[in-house]
Amino acid sequence: MGSLLIKNGEIVSPLDTVGQDVFIKDGTIAAIGQNLDISAERVIDAAGHYVLPGGIDVHTHFAMPFMGEVSADDFESGTAAAIAGGTTSILDYIVPAKEQSLLEALSIWKEKAKNAVSDYGFHMAITWYSEQVSEEMAVCVREEGIPSFKAFLAYKGAIMVDDAELVSILKRSRELGALIMAHCENGEIVAELQEKLFSEGKVEPKYHALSRPSYAEGESAFRLATLARALGVPAYFVHMSCAESTKVLIEARAQGLDVIGETCPQYLLLDDSVYERPGFQGAAYVMSPPIRPQGHADALWGAIRAGQIQVVGTDHCPFNLENQKELGRNDFRKIPNGAAGIEDRLKLMYTYGVKTGKITINQMVEVCSTNPARIFGMYPRKGIVAVGADADLVIWQPEGDGVISAKTHRHNVDTSIFEGFATTGGPATVVAGGKVRYEDGKLDVEPGAGRFIRRSLTR
Ligand code: URP
Ligand code: ZN
Ligand code: ZN
Repeated sequence: MGSLLIKNGEIVSPLDTVGQDVFIKDGTIAAIGQNLDISAERVIDAAGHYVLPGGIDVHTHFAMPFMGEVSADDFESGTAAAIAGGTTSILDYIVPAKEQSLLEALSIWKEKAKNAVSDYGFHMAITWYSEQVSEEMAVCVREEGIPSFKAFLAYKGAIMVDDAELVSILKRSRELGALIMAHCENGEIVAELQEKLFSEGKVEPKYHALSRPSYAEGESAFRLATLARALGVPAYFVHMSCAESTKVLIEARAQGLDVIGETCPQYLLLDDSVYERPGFQGAAYVMSPPIRPQGHADALWGAIRAGQIQVVGTDHCPFNLENQKELGRNDFRKIPNGAAGIEDRLKLMYTYGVKTGKITINQMVEVCSTNPARIFGMYPRKGIVAVGADADLVIWQPEGDGVISAKTHRHNVDTSIFEGFATTGGPATVVAGGKVRYEDGKLDVEPGAGRFIRRSLTR
């Protein structure tokens, strides 16, 4: 597979930033040290650059059938965009329909993932519960390398589970040692408010946000934390968007509960004024939870800084404004929920987190790579620049101006929720599995080169 020597870079881990060389052989980091004197097929001088472990995005939805449409990035385009943004591994959600066998859905997702260009793994969503689901959960954990399950506490009438089902899922996860993740929004409140607003003739995209208030997320997060406490299981809050769920998370952690929080750049960087954009443009921002009013992002940033939120993912789930989001032009309830972000995540966290002094570059690496690897059973193969780890790394240039735009992004979607956002720095070179996959703004990827990440239990 070849060898590569990266010289003079500053290697970043959650704990420190150290000037050392990295020698890569046959896809693995074989040596790290100062002034390594090893001959290699290729030498890259990374002077003036950081060397980061490849980003890990543990929240993606590639080619996902959802709300009558299929998300616009498949595993090939989605993982290619990921690599261009410095993300070298992803975990995608398998979402079985109600009554569908988990293993049947797994085989569909395995097929879809065959053209991935980066390494990938899966979480399994549990959208219904039965004896069969219980048995198949065991197969996921013990035979398929999928030790994490997601429950949706929203999307009533579609993939939402009720409290009785949630209790069964939590108990089964406890038996299996798996991690339960949940989409926390109270689906009953949302359904009620949607109905009310729509019956009043309020059909525009902004009513999506008004039908999903932050207190509905707070209630649901508190319910999950309370059940996790009663049953003695760990729990992971996906895509946290607001102060209420952040408070629940911090209080639960203070009480010693094993709870973990994830947020995404859109909740850190946007506010609900996006829904006031003219015409139907607000539909691009229709996602769940919705973008919150000003102030909520401060709570999220504070929790990241304090180590209370451990993961920044993307919830990458794009739908085109044309032909897809348009389904809900006359009814906000029908706008497919989701947006893109996988190519932008690291640049946004660097520009608006590190460069503004909200977090350090070490914290950026921690929440975007090391913690995801640890929490989801991929560490130390992933998430750290260390001898023996997979050679997934990013040579990061600390300066240089850019602008995010749908005209230039690699996401397979016609809009960017970060359109016009200025960025500083970014990946100069991305190495995945020991090969240079992105350099000088150009991708060199192969469909199918991505390997399945068989994950182990972490709890
Ligand atoms: O709007 C979103 N978040 N779409 C993807 C599905 C989910 O809830 O994560
Ligand atoms: Zn969700
Ligand atoms: Zn999601």
